[in-house]
Amino acid sequence: MAHAAPPSVDVFTVRTDGVGGDVVAALSTQLTDEELARGARFVRAVDRDTFVIARALVRATLSAYGPTAPRDWRFETNTHGCPFVVAPQAGTPRLAFNLSHTTGLVALAVTRGRLVGVDVERVDRVLREDVAGRHFAPAEVRDLRALPAAAQPRAFFEYWTLKEAYIKARGMGLAIPLADFAFTLAPPAAPTIHFVDGFDDRPERWQFWQAWPTTAHRLSLAVTREDLDREVAVTLTESAAEALVA
Ligand SMILES: CC(C)(COP(=O)(O)OP(=O)(O)OC[C@H]1O[C@@H](n2cnc3c(N)ncnc32)[C@H](O)[C@@H]1OP(=O)(O)O)[C@@H](O)C(=O)NCCC(=O)NCCS
Repeated sequence: MAHAAPPSVDVFTVRTDGVGGDVVAALSTQLTDEELARGARFVRAVDRDTFVIARALVRATLSAYGPTAPRDWRFETNTHGCPFVVAPQAGTPRLAFNLSHTTGLVALAVTRGRLVGVDVERVDRVLREDVAGRHFAPAEVRDLRALPAAAQPRAFFEYWTLKEAYIKARGMGLAIPLADFAFTLAPPAAPTIHFVDGFDDRPERWQFWQAWPTTAHRLSLAVTREDLDREVAVTLTESAAEALVA
């Protein structure tokens, strides 16, 4: 009996620092007029360039999964702003993706037929408010505060990126209260999730995965496991922005 292809998620990252204006201009030709107009609204050049690189990464990468030119992918967003592929889907049914960008890096996760969310953050970012104390689950705050003080700022981003990856995989963003679910970290084991009573989800259907795409960037991924006995295989590929130019 033939086995279905093993469940997998492909994660792609592109560094955005130092990408030349000629490369950004070439990538812009892959964007739709609507995307170009949206990109033009960013005030800072660095944000405009990151936007263009991120959209080009999505379009060029999806074209490796189906017979569609980068410029021809069409997207819509759900009521929480989560983008998804609407056309063309011929040859690429159930294609799902999620995108994240932060200073210096964009990340894209692509899979088929499962929920997926990705988040990247720079771990040397200094926060002006006590985000953990105000928004994390009590168990997370307790575990974080139990660490040596010097380790806490970096460890904060373990929780932050995991929580973002989960709410993004659900496609709901901050409509899910961040204190309603908690991560337990016990490396080298994968992180596990727990929900408050009455929360409409099951921990066992989720797999979490983390990586350091650069020494300054933490990446977390959340993906659903349809077959609870099979691990979802994750691959991480770094590309240069230049390589996205058609
Ligand atoms: C919008 C949100 C989904 C992610 O925001 P973010 O972490 O600042 O940004 P990221 O770069 O990781 O993700 C943005 C991308 O996610 C996608 N996205 C937008 N809304 C989404 C949603 N509801 N679900 C999944 N993905 C979404 C989009 O592709 C977007 O990029 P684009 O606008 O260029 O297409 C939401 O979680 C948010 O506003 N977070 C605020 C951050 C925060 O306060 N976190 C608290 C600590 S846990």
